[in-house]
Amino acid sequence: MKFFIGKKEDFKEKEGKEVVIDGRPIAVFKVKGRFFSFKNICPHKGWKLHEGAVNENTLSVKCPGHSWEFNIATGEYVGNSNIKIRTYNIIEEEDNLYIEI
Ligand code: FES
Repeated sequence: MKFFIGKKEDFKEKEGKEVVIDGRPIAVFKVKGRFFSFKNICPHKGWKLHEGAVNENTLSVKCPGHSWEFNIATGEYVGNSNIKIRTYNIIEEEDNLYIEI
């Protein structure tokens, strides 16, 4: 099922934004013009990942809680791929963005 999450222009480069779909908090990031999303709950202690610092070179975000770092595209914890956040597919249709759940 796909859910409208906003216009492309609503998302700023390297800045995370939280959207809530069907009660699920989801982090959306725009990096180098591409869009990514994953569950917005850090698997360590539950801090919100959309508030983390984005590194566009490594395509990663650091949790604002205790600096665990996650690959934005895959949701994997950098350094231990056994820890992974659920990712969601983003669909771009003209100026609109949708999340597939
Ligand atoms: S809550 Fe994310 S690193 Fe601790």
